[in-house]
Amino acid sequence: MQKRDYLSILDLSIEETREVINLGFHYKMEFKKGKFLENVLNNRTIALIFEKPSLRTIATFQIAITQLGGYALNLEHQSVRMGQREPVKDVARNLDKWVNGIVSRVYSHQTLIELAKYTTIPVINALSDLEHPCQALADTLTIFEITNFSKDFTLTFIGDGNNVSHSLMLISSYIGNRFIWAGPNGYEPNREIYNKSIEISKKTGAKIEITNDIVYAIKNSDFIYTDVWASMGQESEAEERKRIFREYQINSEILKYAPKGYKIMHCLPAHRDEEITDEVIESENSIVFQQAENRLHAQKGLIAFLYSK
Ligand code: CP
Ligand code: NVA
Repeated sequence: MQKRDYLSILDLSIEETREVINLGFHYKMEFKKGKFLENVLNNRTIALIFEKPSLRTIATFQIAITQLGGYALNLEHQSVRMGQREPVKDVARNLDKWVNGIVSRVYSHQTLIELAKYTTIPVINALSDLEHPCQALADTLTIFEITNFSKDFTLTFIGDGNNVSHSLMLISSYIGNRFIWAGPNGYEPNREIYNKSIEISKKTGAKIEITNDIVYAIKNSDFIYTDVWASMGQESEAEERKRIFREYQINSEILKYAPKGYKIMHCLPAHRDEEITDEVIESENSIVFQQAENRLHAQKGLIAFLYSK
């Protein structure tokens, strides 16, 4: 098997990303028919190492691996302590001898790069400070279910230029839709990721915009996405960020500007009444649990793709 890592949206081509999403859709349809077991992994073991807390990602990877005929080895981070008890490259070269893949959630994206460099097995990004590509796959599957696989929609991310916004921007440049990021001055997405998205958009026709104007963004959005203002690892900035991001809250007042039929998205966990009000997240426009549902199916698509090569 040829090693393929998935640390970034950019690790698969546009066609391959579409294939993963189609596979995810296929797995979802099968799941709905009660058929959720398929022997793709053939008893392979995939190790999970999460440096940060998780509900959705850890649960859905474990379920996906089980349903695809593999075994999920959940390694407690407190015990392994990558980079502290021993260097990341040593953890990588040990695991490489025993398991057939690593799914890891890390503070520093560099840790994933190191894991990938020192292994011969696929390494999957379960969230880093830079990207959350598996979330973006599930979100794109969700949007496709609603838009009937059309690319003529606008996805707007309101808030911090964080990991989730980066993967959504990159995947939008692949799909060819319009993507608007709106947030406070100084918290814009990573410049290299933005430049890469612009470069890809020249081929796909995507439109990528960055603005500080929330009203402009909301007025133009079919899908309004938000995420916490302080990500895991930024807890010490939380209070300061609450002040800086205040005007970027998704609430019923700001949604008066939204076009008819808009949808509300959030990767979860949400900080209710900070980046989004309880009323909005509980409203009928909210599709947050469909997104969470699709984490399982999109990741099954990803694993099936990576292990079929
Ligand atoms: N959306 C997401 O990644 O959720 P968890 O942090 O619970 O995995
Ligand atoms: N941006 C958030 C996403 C959590 C799923 C974080 O990194 O904490």
